[in-house]
Amino acid sequence: MLCKIEKIDPCERGCLFKNEEIMKIAIIGTGYVGLPTGVGLAEFDNQVICVDKERSKIEQLKQGKVTLFEEGLEELFLKNLKEGRLSFTTNIKEAIPKADVVLIAVGTPPNPKTKEADLKYIYAAAEEIAPLLSDFTVVATKSTVPVGTGDKIEALIKQKNPKADVEVISLPEFLREGFAIYDFFHPDRIVIGANAQRGFDRIKKMYAPFEGKTNFLCVSRRSSETIKYASNAFLAMKIHYANELADFCEKAGAIVSEVTQGMGLDTRIGSRFLNAGPGYGGSCFPKDTNAMAYMGRQYGADLSLVAATIKGNALRKKKMAERILAQVEEVKNPKVAVLGLAFKGGTDDCRESPAIDIIQNLLELRPDIQIKAYDPKATEQARKILGDKIIYETDMYKAAEGADVLAVLTEWVDFKSLDLEKTLSLMEGKKIVDLRNMLSFEKATQLGFKYSSIGRV
Ligand code: UDX
Repeated sequence: MLCKIEKIDPCERGCLFKNEEIMKIAIIGTGYVGLPTGVGLAEFDNQVICVDKERSKIEQLKQGKVTLFEEGLEELFLKNLKEGRLSFTTNIKEAIPKADVVLIAVGTPPNPKTKEADLKYIYAAAEEIAPLLSDFTVVATKSTVPVGTGDKIEALIKQKNPKADVEVISLPEFLREGFAIYDFFHPDRIVIGANAQRGFDRIKKMYAPFEGKTNFLCVSRRSSETIKYASNAFLAMKIHYANELADFCEKAGAIVSEVTQGMGLDTRIGSRFLNAGPGYGGSCFPKDTNAMAYMGRQYGADLSLVAATIKGNALRKKKMAERILAQVEEVKNPKVAVLGLAFKGGTDDCRESPAIDIIQNLLELRPDIQIKAYDPKATEQARKILGDKIIYETDMYKAAEGADVLAVLTEWVDFKSLDLEKTLSLMEGKKIVDLRNMLSFEKATQLGFKYSSIGRV
C-alpha cells in the first residue's frame, strides 16, 4: 500500500501490555518527538514528567491543551493527564532527581552557514541535568545527534558531577510526523546504543511491552547515532531516486507509479518511500542529510550519494514552481489555487515544506501572481512564514474559485475526494498541476482539464 493513502487507527495497540514495573521517566523537550513519546510511555503505566523552558507551552499542557497536531495524540494525552501519569513542569529540578530514565528530546537545528547540527540545546540540557543526578540514571538522547555526541554528553556530565552514577545512551526515534502515535506503538525496531550492559537493561525494561513484538537492536553508542542519520539519508535518497525516475518516465513515455509499483514488489526494494513528488521536506530529511554530508566531510569520507540527493532535492522545488508557471505564461495577474501547505499530509508542520518553497518561488518569479491556498491543518503555521503574501481559504473549493490553475502540493488524503466537476465549474482556467499524483488522471483528462502530474504525460 502506498504510504500517502494510509488510514490507520493511531491509538491501536495490538497485543501490547502495560509495563509490569512502573518507571519514572523525565523528558526534556515537548516538541514533535518529546510529547508523543511521553504520552506513549505514560500509556504503558509509567510515570512521565515533561520539562520545557517555554512557560506558555507548559501552562497550556497543564491545562489539557495539546500544543501540536498529531493524529490520536489528544485522546491519549488527556487520558494520561487525567489519570495522573503525565505531568509538566518548567522546573528541571522537579523532574531529574527521581527519574530512572531521562530522555533528551530537544531540537538540533541546522547551523545556517555550515548546516551541521547545532547542539547548544543538547549540551545545555546535559549541563542542567548533571548536578541533579543522584541514584543510577540512564540519560538517553532521543534527538538526532552527530556521531560522538554521546561521548561529549558523558564527559560533560562527569565534569560537572564526577560522582554521577550515569549511563549515557543513544536511543534514536523513528516517529514520522502525523503518524507519531501509531509509530510509537508499532516500531519496526528499537535501537539502543550503549557502551555498558546496564544501559541496555534499563531501556529494555522501559520498553518491556515491546519484548517479543519488535526487534531490539543493541549496538555501540556511535553505531546507534549513525543508524539514525544513515536511515533518514537512505529514505531521502529513495525519494529522490523516485523523483529522478519520474522525470525520466515523462521523457520516455512510461508511468512512474507503475514503475515504482513494479520495483516495490521486489522485497529487497520495498514499495514505501517511492512516491514521486515535489521533493522531500520536513524537520528531518533536509536537516539530517545536510548534517550527514557535513559529518562525511569532517571525517574525510565521501558521501557522494547524499550530496547528490541534497542538490537534486533543492533544484526540484524550483523546477516544480516553473512547472506551475508554465501553465499561466500567457496570463496577466495569474490566479493560482494551492492545495496543501504542510510538508506532508497528516501534520500542521510547515518546516522545510516543499509547498512553502514552491509558493515562495512562484511569488518571486511572478510578482503579479495571486495565490489562494487551502490546507486542512497547516494554515496558522504557514501564515507565520508567508504572512499576507497569499490568501488563506477555509476549503478546497473556495481556493479553486476563479483560479487559472490549481496546484496540489501536499499529499492530504482529503484531496483525493476533490470533486473535479465542481472544481471545473468554479475555476477560470482548466489546468491542474498535481505534484502529489492525488487526483485521477483519467477523470481529469476526460473532463477536459489540462492535467499535469508527476512522472506521466
Ligand atoms: C522522517 C522519518 O520518516 C522518520 O523515521 C524520522 O524519525 C523523522 O523523519 P517525517 O519527517 O515525519 O519522518 O516525514 P516522512 O513521512 O518521512 O516524509 C518526509 C518527506 O518526504 C515529506 O515531505 C514527504 O512528503 C516526502 N515523501 C515521503 C515523498 O515525497 N515521497 C514518499 O514516498 C515519502
